[in-house]
Amino acid sequence: MVKRTLERVLEGETVNPPPIWLMRQAGRYLPEYRALREKAGGFLNLCYNPDFATEVTLQPIRRYGFDAAILFSDILVIPDALKCGVRFEKGEGPRLDPINADDIARLEARYAANTLDPVIEAVRRIRASLPEETSLLGFCGAPWTVATYMIAGKGTSDQAPARLFAYRHRKEFLQLLDLIADLSADYLIRQLEAGADAVQIFDSWAGVLTEDDFADFAAKPVARIVEKVRMAVPGAKIIAFAKGAGANLSTYRQLTGANAIGLDWTVPLSVAKTLQKEGPVQGNLDPLAMVVGGKMMEARATAIVEALSDGPMIFNLGHGITPDVDPENVAALVKRVRGEK
Ligand code: CP3
Repeated sequence: MVKRTLERVLEGETVNPPPIWLMRQAGRYLPEYRALREKAGGFLNLCYNPDFATEVTLQPIRRYGFDAAILFSDILVIPDALKCGVRFEKGEGPRLDPINADDIARLEARYAANTLDPVIEAVRRIRASLPEETSLLGFCGAPWTVATYMIAGKGTSDQAPARLFAYRHRKEFLQLLDLIADLSADYLIRQLEAGADAVQIFDSWAGVLTEDDFADFAAKPVARIVEKVRMAVPGAKIIAFAKGAGANLSTYRQLTGANAIGLDWTVPLSVAKTLQKEGPVQGNLDPLAMVVGGKMMEARATAIVEALSDGPMIFNLGHGITPDVDPENVAALVKRVRGEK
């Protein structure tokens, strides 16, 4: 069996050119995604239909031959299985029924694990359909980020509702983080057992926390997930992406035990090189460079590859690709990173 490049890097190997995949690589910038979403009649219908989820996951692999596919789903399927009324309204982002402090002790009893069965079936089908050399990534949201949506009922610019809630109801909030961590660990274990080769934990809102809160709300719950997953699946390969973690990144890998840490686009390449001395890093092209394309995008991508070529790295964006990107720019990026042009 071939040893896939992404997995080699997660084991600490330096691979040149580095493996490349993009966060949100399946999505609205691709016309074939938009067509299928229209046909499915809603975003969650895509996530919970194994045929659709498989097809959407494979679309960017067919186009670009990325080194990894990422399961098509969403971090909010966990609150959906907790019957939080998750819905995606066009142009508005996610909406949920907000929870209050009294709800938290009762949440676990509402959990319907079988909600996630179609996602696990999609993992099986995707792994069976992918080229052997392509890794399959599973994923979940980090407890802090998932909790922010459950508390506010939507995304907000600074997640003030969840921060206030955590300050006012610390005991219940920590209980909520533990519950999300335990359900997420079980979910990742199911994904790995169904054929995912590695998993990523997305903490998109880690950047709004103070130092102590970062440790308690972001890092420790992710450490709990990592530990549980590795107990069930020894050697499980895990990427932890804490967007906006900045100066907290140096302790993030140690605190969580993740194999690789994801870097957003604000992390200086000098800092990225230092972090890379302790283990694999993933990142960190500004997603807006993909919108601009051309020489600007290529120069920035080259700078990242050159700065990090002496150690283990996975090339990615610093956050998800946006719907306004020209698909041609992605093809040009892949060529540049692979040194084909
Ligand atoms: O990366 C991939 O290609 C895999 C699929 C994936 C989606 N969401 C599909 C999606 C992944 C890994 C996610 C993670 C996710 N979802 C995160 C963490 C990463 C990040 O981007 O910060 C978060 C915070 C969410 C919650 C979420 N889902 C938001 C805030 C939105 C709306 C924003 C938007 O882009 O519209 C979604 C919807 C969503 N998830 C879409 C896709 C392709 C767009 C839905 C559509 O087709 O309208």
